[in-house]
Amino acid sequence: MNILIINGPNLNLLGVREPDTYGNQSFDDYLFILQEKYSKTKIDYFQSNIEGEIINKIHEFGFSADGIVLNAGAYTHTSVALADAISAVETPVIEVHISNVYKREKFRHHSFLSPVCRGVISGFGMNSYRLAIEAFLNY
Ligand code: DQA
Repeated sequence: MNILIINGPNLNLLGVREPDTYGNQSFDDYLFILQEKYSKTKIDYFQSNIEGEIINKIHEFGFSADGIVLNAGAYTHTSVALADAISAVETPVIEVHISNVYKREKFRHHSFLSPVCRGVISGFGMNSYRLAIEAFLNY
């Protein structure tokens, strides 16, 4: 099983950025824990603040990986191009959010990605990524 985690804009600042909303842990620290826990699963990781780079990565892994876990950050709420990229590839994508976007501002309630994703996990902190991996391992 090969899973790619993609983090979008501003998620390189996890651990520093708005800790009340996103917690104190850096993604590198969390990724290490995930890779230890799921040692039989190959978990690749990519982060970019640039929409086109995320699209390129979805194209690169989207015909070979078993699953993509995508936290597209604010692009979730704006990007038709990302939705098209998800539709274009064969690998299923699970949309994740650290925060519960439905508890937050109204502009975060709409996702261009949800209709083309396998499912959505939102609001469980860093555990949202783990739950997405569990979903791929179990289905
Ligand atoms: C986020 C929620 C988005 O609305 C926001 O723009 C982010 C992070 C989350 O993980 O909770 O950057 O995707």
